[in-house]
This record gives sequence, C-alpha cells and structure tokens, in this order.
Amino acid sequence: MIVLGIETSCDETAAAVIDFREGDWTLLSEVVSSQVALHREYGGVVPELASREHLTNLPLVVDEALNSAGISFEDIEGVGATRGPGLKGCLLMGYCYAKGISLAHDVPFLGVNHIEGHILAPMLDNPELTFPYLCLVVSGGHTEIVEVYGVGSYKLVARTIDDAAGEAFDKSAHLLGFPYPGGAALSRLGDTCESSRFSLPKVMREQEGFSFSGLKTAISLLLKKQGEIDHETKAELAFTIQGSIVDALLFKLKGALNTSSLKTVALTGGVSANRRLRAEVEKLRVPVYFPRMDHCMDNGAMIAFAAAHRFARGESTPLDTEVFGRWPVEELA
Ligand code: KG4
Ligand code: ZN
Repeated sequence: MIVLGIETSCDETAAAVIDFREGDWTLLSEVVSSQVALHREYGGVVPELASREHLTNLPLVVDEALNSAGISFEDIEGVGATRGPGLKGCLLMGYCYAKGISLAHDVPFLGVNHIEGHILAPMLDNPELTFPYLCLVVSGGHTEIVEVYGVGSYKLVARTIDDAAGEAFDKSAHLLGFPYPGGAALSRLGDTCESSRFSLPKVMREQEGFSFSGLKTAISLLLKKQGEIDHETKAELAFTIQGSIVDALLFKLKGALNTSSLKTVALTGGVSANRRLRAEVEKLRVPVYFPRMDHCMDNGAMIAFAAAHRFARGESTPLDTEVFGRWPVEELA
C-alpha cells in the first residue's frame, strides 16, 4: 500500500511516501522543510508565522515528495497527517491539506498521533526491532518513557512534569549565547571537550517522573557565577550541561529497565540524535535501537509509517474531525 504522510505539528513542514506491507516496507521519498531560520530572530517558534509558513510550503513539499518517489496523486492509496499533539494552527494546515487529498482522490484518511510516530520511528529504520520494547521519547516538547506492546498499545511509565529534555538543552544553549534552538550546537561544542572544571548537582534522583526545573536553576546559577566567558570555558560548560542532562535521562531509563519486564530499549525524538546520550545508552547491557539521525527529528516518514500501520489494521479517520493540541499517547488504542 502506497501511503503519503504529512507532518506540520510545529516548525517543520514534512512529507514522505512509503510502500508498506506488514513486516516489509520501503521508504520511497521524504522531504523536510525546516522553519528554524524564520523563528530564530524571535528566539522560539511563533505559532502564527509557523502555520502561515506551512500553508505556503505544503504544496511544494508534497509535490516534491511525490516527484522523488516517482508517483502522482493517483498512485496514493492512503494519506495520513499529524493530528496532535502540537500547535493547533500548525496541525490544522497539514490535517486539512491531507483531508483535501483524501477527498479529491478518494483515498482513506488517517489522523496520526505525533508521539506514536516518534515511538514507531526506531522500527521504521530497524526492521529487526519487534514489539514489545521500552521507548524513551526525548524531543523538544515531550519527555516520557513508554512501554510499547504494539501499535496503539502503550503504557506510560514516566513523563516530565515541567520542561522536556530538548527544552532543557535549548534553554541552556540560550543562556550560553547560542541562537535558537541551540541544543544540537551546545552538544557539538560540548563534544570537543573530554573533561571540565565545572560540575552540576545530580538531579531527578528523588521524584517520580522527569523534572528539569532543578537542573535549570543550577545551570543558570553556574553560568551567572562565570560572568564573561571565553571559548574554552564555554565548551567546558557545554560539556558539563550536556553531561548532566544525559545523566538524568540515563538514571530514569535505568530505573525503568529495572522495574519493567521489557528488556529491549528504543530511543526516539530530537534529543535521541545526541551522540553522548547514544553512547551512554549503548553501554546498557540490553539491545538498543535508534532511528536514523534525520528520523530523530520531526519528519514525514514516521507519520507515513504510523498511518500505514493503522491502515493495515483497517482503520481510517472520518473527515469531520478536529486536531488535538494535547493528545497523550497512552490514550490511543
Ligand atoms: O523531535 P523534535 O524534532 O521536535 C519535537 O517534536 O519537539 O525535537 C527537537 C528538539 C530540540 O529541542 C532540539 O534542540 C533537540 O531536539 N535536539 C538535540 C540534538 N538535536 C536536536 N538536543 C541535544 N542534542 C542534539 N544533538
Ligand atoms: Zn516531534
């Protein structure tokens, strides 16, 4: 079955085409148009600008995805789009565009949960990964550990009560003077060091779930104490900050592994592209899977893949449905 997937939940306009059969799939094409440059001068995503930009980009991104897959609209057998969670105005653009395609070409439509897309992304790139697995979702908007028993069968183990891991990276990066979203740049600079003069308190040891507020305060105090910093000092601070976020994520993941009966781990979401996190998780004595680097970040391939799984189960979403700003993954069936 040829499925077109569309993602517009935040600041990436993305589309992908997958040829899907259960246990056997080929990604035929994918296109991601990032709006990072547009939002940079505001220091974060401006929802109104983002949704207008999606509207402009969507026809181009979808056409390019179809062209590079070597197919036309007539060849699509199902169309999926992110229904939530995300920025409502942004979601509506991709959701309505996909409904239009469904209506015009008489193909089934599917509203995809964005987190389900992330959760299935490690499988998309590692067909040998099978259910069940323990999934650490670490993105710009979400940080949670989920037991994944199958499509739509998710048990929440832990979730952040404040910031997401990506936000912790980006806010620290902002304090260090990196332009938005500085998470990846902060880690690249941190990776140039092998040690640091600085240290941060161990966090998240007591409470259940994730919380980055203590770490955020500690980082901001540490940086205030330094005043003006040279490049060397900035690199060492980046090394320490990255280390403490990775340490906190690892602590929670190890705890979940101890209590869960599941002993296969998958990481996903933007922060799973972090090399230090990947290296540390690789050291756990269990099988570990990651999406391809570009499938850690928001993309259309994971949405096409999740939609295809649900089409294969005979599901579709009625066209008279709304998007969801909030849509916890454990509520899916
Ligand atoms: O999954 P994603 O593309 O979007 C959301 O669904 O939120 O994740 C984006 C987040 C941003 O906060 C970004 O700074 C972070 O992932 N990120 C990284 C790295 N690459 C992206 N954080 C740490 N290290 C990286 N290498
Ligand atoms: Zn995401």
